[in-house]
Amino acid sequence: MKQHRAPLFEALKRHLAREYAGFHFPAHAGGRGLPPSLAGGLARLDLTELPGLDDLHAPSGPIARAQELAAALYGADRTFFLVNGSTVGLQALLLAGTAPGQKVLLPRNVHRAVVGGLILSGADPVYLLPPVSTDWGLFLPPAPADVNAALAAHPDLAAVIWTHPDYHGLATLTAATAAAIREAGLPLLVDEAHGAHLPFHPHMPPPALTLGAAAAVQSVHKLGGALTQASWLHLKGPLPDPSRVARALALLETSSPSYLLMVSLDLARRQLAVSGTRLVGRAVELAGVLRRGLAALDGVAVMKADAGQADPTKVVVATGGLGLSGYRAAAILRRKYGLQVEMAGATYLLLVVGLGTRAADVARALQAFRSLAREHRPVRRTRVIGPPLPPPAEKVLTPRESWLAAAKPVAPVQAAGLVAAETISICPPGIPVVFPGEKLTPEVIEYILEIRARGFPVQAADPGLASILVHCE
Ligand SMILES: Cc1ncc(COP(=O)(O)O)c(C=O)c1O
Repeated sequence: MKQHRAPLFEALKRHLAREYAGFHFPAHAGGRGLPPSLAGGLARLDLTELPGLDDLHAPSGPIARAQELAAALYGADRTFFLVNGSTVGLQALLLAGTAPGQKVLLPRNVHRAVVGGLILSGADPVYLLPPVSTDWGLFLPPAPADVNAALAAHPDLAAVIWTHPDYHGLATLTAATAAAIREAGLPLLVDEAHGAHLPFHPHMPPPALTLGAAAAVQSVHKLGGALTQASWLHLKGPLPDPSRVARALALLETSSPSYLLMVSLDLARRQLAVSGTRLVGRAVELAGVLRRGLAALDGVAVMKADAGQADPTKVVVATGGLGLSGYRAAAILRRKYGLQVEMAGATYLLLVVGLGTRAADVARALQAFRSLAREHRPVRRTRVIGPPLPPPAEKVLTPRESWLAAAKPVAPVQAAGLVAAETISICPPGIPVVFPGEKLTPEVIEYILEIRARGFPVQAADPGLASILVHCE
């Protein structure tokens, strides 16, 4: 009876009918930031491996040439188009570049896609705990001394995984850290999901490849003007072996890659090559207008974005001065003022200014925040903060060993001392709090229950956290 309905299409239409001012991914803003050749008649481009249209898994024609152009633009030796986001790129890098039991060093604030890669490869993670900023509650770059200590303590590492810049736009990879990793002879595999636009403005954090990374995976759909899921993977240097990466991608990706996604990568590359400086420059300018306007409001604070240290198009706004959590502020902005942000945290909001953002959108956002600030001026300033992160739990199993071992759900109150059989993350930004194979401590359980109780978006086998998957003793 319901076959005449198209629930997803209808939900999308309902969403569009609200005409939100959108400050979120994909930052092409309803197509305005897409290369003009993509904008009309999309369906006609939805083709497949027809004569002359090449094959993503054995490219020798236009796909090969399009990938070569992308490699040349980013200074890579080789670029692979991806049709399952940066997620598949990260998984393929780990599968191709590491073997079961080999150690890889990674800061704990990786995206959960990396956990998938660790499960596939069987690599043994050595987690670095990055410091957390006291004012914003965000992860900071791991201290160079901690990186050096980890490199010295684990001479048997096979690779290092890094996220740069992070979800909030912070540069996390310094030249010194990259040099230390290179000197240790290790391939540096970078999750640069938020960095497709970095080379096109001097204010941006330095691109990972220019710092000596062996690989960088970029979600072109996030900030580079391609369709959602369209990403690419750049390699520079001999490791990981490019032919193994190609085989890993052939294993993990569909045999029917979407030409819409691939053509969007080709056109996004062309648009960035031809007009990237102008388009990214405009986004930086508009973000500047937004930043200055927000910072002038009583009760609103904007995180600094010093040149080279942070991406200025990621605008992080503290809402505690208004007596509002980020979640509450996001809900009011959405419901009352038709403004959709990219992400809300306990204490802040993240707005993304992209290639498609217009001056009118920024004006509308400022108007919305002005009203919010007027209506929510607390009598007494209360500091809204999230619960402090618990000390990380002890790793008992590698993520792959955990994946393969028997597991059962238990109530959280019974889970202390047991080994987690799942990833538990807050999403966005998708950073795990619990990695599979870690022994759950009372502090970790208390923390995840607290974030759930406060309404944080938890991603877990049971998102309501009535149960946690653990390994049978
Ligand atoms: C830091 C980071 N890495 C990787 C990913 C996964 O990228 P994709 O959505 O392109 O698969 C995301 C997605 O939000 C991310 O924020």
